[in-house]
Amino acid sequence: MTPKNNEVTHLELTKKIRLVPMAETHLNELVKLEEACFPHPWTREALAEELRNPAAVFTVAMLGDHVAGYAGMQNIAGEGYVCNIAVFPQYRGAGIGRLLTGGLIRYARQNQLSFVTLEVRPSNIVAVSLYRSLGFAEEGRRPRFYRDPQEDALIMTWRPVETKLE
Ligand SMILES: CC(C)(COP(=O)(O)OP(=O)(O)OC[C@H]1O[C@@H](n2cnc3c(N)ncnc32)[C@H](O)[C@@H]1OP(=O)(O)O)[C@@H](O)C(=O)NCCC(=O)NCCS
Repeated sequence: MTPKNNEVTHLELTKKIRLVPMAETHLNELVKLEEACFPHPWTREALAEELRNPAAVFTVAMLGDHVAGYAGMQNIAGEGYVCNIAVFPQYRGAGIGRLLTGGLIRYARQNQLSFVTLEVRPSNIVAVSLYRSLGFAEEGRRPRFYRDPQEDALIMTWRPVETKLE
């Protein structure tokens, strides 16, 4: 079957993506990415702090010399707490978020984490369906967790036995 044009484009884009550990050289672009994605973006200082944090598992998706997205998690006593996953708007829908989140799950498997958990806005249909498709299950809500606009957080958790896809 002939792939649709957008599928070809997406495949070509994701083939060019390299996942690398976050480094000092990424910080300027990561600040821009945070500002493009979130009403309360992480600052350069907060991101730099993670470079010095031995628990941090922060991965950057590079397209050539540029940051396309990133995912950050902390490994706290064998449990994974996701801080952020973000892709620049112009690169969304091409599989980069899936690569980044899949990378966190791969890390969790390799390091035998008991679980990986995150908070997400229930209204963030794209993120919720991405996490569901990778085996995250809804395990509860944190009332009024988000501001601007106020919204509950959905708690979604991946556990090794429950994973179907990666
Ligand atoms: C959430 C986010 C990281 C996803 O990144 P992405 O690169 O666009 O995601 P992908 O292209 O890998 O898509 C992964 C899945 O999301 C879902 N998805 C993607 N675009 C979608 C859309 N327009 N509508 C519905 N679902 C969609 C699909 O399930 C898709 O998988 P599939 O196409 O293989 O079936 C990105 O949208 C983003 O940066 N959003 C702003 C920041 C944010 O909300 N981060 C999450 C905080 S918890």
